[in-house]
Amino acid sequence: DPTMLWGGRFTSGPSETMAALSLSTHFDWSLAPYDIAGSKAHARVLHGAGLLTESELEDMLAGLDTLATEVRTGRFLPEPDDEDVHTALERGLLERVGTELGGKLRAGRSRNDQVATQFRMWLRDAVRGIVSAVLDVIDALGEQAAAHPSAVLAGRTHLQHAQPVLLAHHLLAHSQALLRDVARLRDWDERTAVSPYGSGALAGSSLGLDPDAVASELGFEHGVDNSMDGTSSRDFAAEAAFDLAMLGVNLSRIAEEIVVWNTAEFGYITLDDAWATGSSIMPQKKNPDVAELARAKSGRLIGNLTGLLTSLKAQPLAYNRDLQEDKEPLFDSVHQLRLVLPAMAGMLGTLTFHTERMAEMAPAGFTLATDIAEWLVRRGVPFRVAHEASGECVRLAESRGVGLDELTEQELSRAHPELTPAVREVLTVRGAVSARDSRGGTAPDRVAEQARRVDEHVARH
Ligand code: ARG
Repeated sequence: DPTMLWGGRFTSGPSETMAALSLSTHFDWSLAPYDIAGSKAHARVLHGAGLLTESELEDMLAGLDTLATEVRTGRFLPEPDDEDVHTALERGLLERVGTELGGKLRAGRSRNDQVATQFRMWLRDAVRGIVSAVLDVIDALGEQAAAHPSAVLAGRTHLQHAQPVLLAHHLLAHSQALLRDVARLRDWDERTAVSPYGSGALAGSSLGLDPDAVASELGFEHGVDNSMDGTSSRDFAAEAAFDLAMLGVNLSRIAEEIVVWNTAEFGYITLDDAWATGSSIMPQKKNPDVAELARAKSGRLIGNLTGLLTSLKAQPLAYNRDLQEDKEPLFDSVHQLRLVLPAMAGMLGTLTFHTERMAEMAPAGFTLATDIAEWLVRRGVPFRVAHEASGECVRLAESRGVGLDELTEQELSRAHPELTPAVREVLTVRGAVSARDSRGGTAPDRVAEQARRVDEHVARH
């Protein structure tokens, strides 16, 4: 059988059971356009090395173009006997240009360098798409921040009321994390722009081929420096899996807050009907399914990362068939994020914020206690003492069921002799927010400044 990749030293084909285990076309078919692009580049370097005549090259390229069209339209598909995408496309080429010419393309390459190159190409394209979808989420957050420049809410630590902050400050905190995800993916792309094509099975080629020419035709910077590393390393895949898992984790943190903010107890937000679901039995329900699915998918992305790392661990040089297991985790992570990111952007962009409710809750839980302490510090009281005095104010207010701004003159001076009703000037949410005007702080000017910087970053990508 001329389409068998090996035959010479074998007296039988694979057993059916072995073939079933070996098969990968059901998932690696997405590499098909990259395999064909690689074949065209390879045909050109074979021609450059004098191993294909001008007319052979033309026939070969025409055959590959036909095959590419048939793959695109679904006319050419893998058959059960094709082990993987590379085998199937080689069969397709032989069927189109004949076994004589088609058989020449395999010189100086191996499925090992093919798959290592194509997987990089596929991932680099996929990551570009992910980056643009992340930027859409950042835009949605930025638009909500801009639409609510003066809304306040209780900032939390340990999920307990801590200090009041601007809603815009809170939303932009998530933008910062997502911008780092984008930066990581960009860094990754730069490191991954190196092509293993021409490494052969592991040791390189004796045929005088030019891996750098193939590299640049396929959008890479240059060829790899070490053919053994090029064909067998998958840290680029593990690194991408981490970057995507981290992105998922950052999305899950936003998602969790949406779920909580959407409860009756919080009442901070209402979800747009288009981005929520109802219940089949409880007519009043409006569920935050987008956020919940985003939250869950992050677990799946972490699983893809740890699964891949575990497969890679302790593999000796160079290529091992274990490496066939590298693709599905990344295909899945990319697929999940392609679903989650636009949904998150849609949900976030259409949220209604109940800013009166947020503002009403902002001082609850004595979120202004730090402001009493800092007011005393500005009058020369050591922070340790001021902290104690402010704590006393909280205790007094709590025992009487009043707010800090409702403490009497006597109560204040009992907490600390220097504490007078003048402290009330800082005991407003707005005062507390405006006072925190250090770089990165929650004061309106500072938040406007960071919003500008986020926009600048986004514009640069
Ligand atoms: N399908 C394989 C992979 O995904 C490439 C084939 C290499 N096979 C081999 N026996 N060297 O890694």
